[in-house]
Amino acid sequence: MAYSSPRSVPLPTAVRIGLIGSGWMGAFHAESIVRRVPGAVLSAIADPNIEFAEALAASLGTALVTASSDDVLADPSIDAVIIASPARFHADLITQAAVAGKDIFCEKPAGQDLAELEAALAEVEAAGVHFQIGFNRRYAADFQAAKHDLAAGVVGRPQLLRSLTRDPGTGTIAHAAHVPAWTIFLETLIHDFDTLNWFNEGAEPVEVHAVADALVEPDLRDEGFLDTAVVTVRYSNGAIGVAEANFSALYGYDVRGEVFGSKGMVQAGRATETAARRYTAEGLGADTPRLNVELFRQAYTDELADFTAQVRSRRDGTPSPSNVFSLTPGAADARRALACALACIESVQQGRPIKVPHDETAQPIRVYSEL
Ligand SMILES: NC(=O)c1ccc[n+]([C@@H]2O[C@H](COP(=O)([O-])OP(=O)(O)OC[C@H]3O[C@@H](n4cnc5c(N)ncnc54)[C@H](O)[C@@H]3O)[C@@H](O)[C@H]2O)c1
Repeated sequence: MAYSSPRSVPLPTAVRIGLIGSGWMGAFHAESIVRRVPGAVLSAIADPNIEFAEALAASLGTALVTASSDDVLADPSIDAVIIASPARFHADLITQAAVAGKDIFCEKPAGQDLAELEAALAEVEAAGVHFQIGFNRRYAADFQAAKHDLAAGVVGRPQLLRSLTRDPGTGTIAHAAHVPAWTIFLETLIHDFDTLNWFNEGAEPVEVHAVADALVEPDLRDEGFLDTAVVTVRYSNGAIGVAEANFSALYGYDVRGEVFGSKGMVQAGRATETAARRYTAEGLGADTPRLNVELFRQAYTDELADFTAQVRSRRDGTPSPSNVFSLTPGAADARRALACALACIESVQQGRPIKVPHDETAQPIRVYSEL
């Protein structure tokens, strides 16, 4: 018996990706591209701390390195960029990448205020490049299952929605003094706002009322560091959402979502690391996920697989991946979630509910009663 040769099928050219920012999240995205996302290659890494970029490239055994994102953006062989620098650089980098004709995956938030975000997104639209924001929770299997039920009408009209984030911690936050003010809204709860918005698709967030405090690190309250927050969100279809966050859950990383509607309820959120349960004289126990890259390892991979597929389909003119419900978070989602986060900051500062500014260019709101 001899091996036979397969018929040769032309392989599509891999999507060539440049990484901008090689810290905690950028390094994980780089590893995902190299090890877990078929059809994508990591071509270059840019980081002003070039030793970070060099160490990452060496550990993955691939990619050119540079201290300047300009080199990546000027490289005609690169199809797309992943932006994982600190948030304050995102809007400028989106603008520069769009002008350079690169498709863009950007970590959240895509901007720090609506003016800079809208200006950057206008460049994206003018350049006609693909834009995806890093709302990874949409890609978690349980959140997708919940979304599937919602889209199929299983839960009926949403009345109450809930999303929560409890970051893993030790009871103290060692780096708290270096965390930018309002991070709890701009970088943490922004995920929850996207979950609520996505689960309540077709409605717009109209008003938020946020209460926040420094309960883990009370000594830092006067320096503007907030580690605990609860937000109510009123929606245009009448539904009421609640988002909450805390930066120090001793039992691990806890992310959940829930929609209660006219026909029932759906919940998402994986409390345990695996399905294993430990029964002993002390009772019942289980391991919990301790890091975002444990809980969302597959979701982080799948968001980049989606991005790669979309970039390839635009580049090669192949059919784009289809879903039975909206999945890929784009420009409007980035703006809507940021508008909620910014309104929360104002709400805390003023101690009252604040209207969420609408995108004047967005599609007209469709409320559930019209669906
Ligand atoms: N989706 C998620 O669950 C998730 C989780 C963590 C972080 N993030 C987001 O990822 C982004 C980065 O966070 P992080 O925790 O990796 O931060 P980090 O500080 O670990 O890494 C940031 C990196 O960017 C580099 N950098 C600084 N200025 C740059 C520039 N102008 N161009 C290119 N690189 C630059 C820094 O040297 C550093 O290596 C943030 O927007 C954060 O909100 C998302």
